[in-house]
Amino acid sequence: MLNQKNPCKRFLWKWALALFLVCTAVFSIQAVQAASGKTIKTVTMKIGSKKANGTTVSMKEGKTAKIKISTSPKLAEKTVTYKSSKPSVVSVNKNGKLKAKKEGTSTISVTVRAEGYKSKKVTCKVKVTKDTASGSATQDSGTKKALVAYFSATNTTKGVAEVIADVTGAELYEITPSDPYTAADLDYNNDSCRANQEQQSASARPGIEGSVEKFGDYEVIYLGFPIWWGEEPRIIDTFLESYDCSRKIIVPFCTSGGSGISTAVSHIKDIASGSPEVKEGRRFSGDVSKATIEEWIAGLSLGN
Ligand SMILES: Cc1cc2nc3c(=O)[nH]c(=O)nc-3n(C[C@H](O)[C@H](O)[C@H](O)COP(=O)(O)O)c2cc1C
Repeated sequence: MLNQKNPCKRFLWKWALALFLVCTAVFSIQAVQAASGKTIKTVTMKIGSKKANGTTVSMKEGKTAKIKISTSPKLAEKTVTYKSSKPSVVSVNKNGKLKAKKEGTSTISVTVRAEGYKSKKVTCKVKVTKDTASGSATQDSGTKKALVAYFSATNTTKGVAEVIADVTGAELYEITPSDPYTAADLDYNNDSCRANQEQQSASARPGIEGSVEKFGDYEVIYLGFPIWWGEEPRIIDTFLESYDCSRKIIVPFCTSGGSGISTAVSHIKDIASGSPEVKEGRRFSGDVSKATIEEWIAGLSLGN
């Protein structure tokens, strides 16, 4: 009971009551706003090439894959959170990268939030199986079978290729010259160095040691190289002419001191046999972050 004789206490009670009413009103307005937010019509979750919503996707133990999210309507500003019901079976990081850790099945939930919209959640199951094909070029099922093939004279492109292989779960293949390049061969200040001479001759085709096993099995070829005099090194042309590239998607990437990849890409289109689909390609600096590569991979449209 209020002490009617104490005006100070009565004053405090009034303010407490007013504060309570204001808070209740604010919370109610927020609740109504959330409930009446716009609806995200669809959230599509893809793992590799396949739509994963409500399905079970298989992955081999030890492999990684990336979840790609698209929404309708397209949301420029959105927050996507990923959760695995059994992180010891399949872990998922904040960028949607899955890692198959041990045999079992885990449910992966993806929640998309955007201002003014009700949040939307989609799920799929990921089943992890043992990788029994030791040493063979297998990849997550549900993913286009991919190869990262690269040439790197001084290991800059090699570093980028390794990150792409890690992010995509693709196999890695180094295009190794049968006659390795020495420092003198690469001394581009010397007009007559081997690399310069090769670049000056459009028909030069330096030999390659070994070959890709079961090249025909790959659907996507990430093709990496350094830029030499604004172009792809001629050994890349040797590589392209060594295989039937029909029905493949070639995704060129390069490192350079600053030159872009476009001339190399148009040469690749001319030289590769079987009219493969050749993507625009991308130039990276040697210190490119993994996050940038993940973003690039996620944005590639590989016919999924
Ligand atoms: C013969 C030769 C020519 C080069 N020409 C270019 C060029 O035209 N533009 C450029 O930006 N960088 C050029 N570079 C620098 C390389 O593209 C760059 O250092 C690249 O990252 C090296 O990659 P790698 O370590 O994988 O071989 C050239 C390097 C060499 C050896």
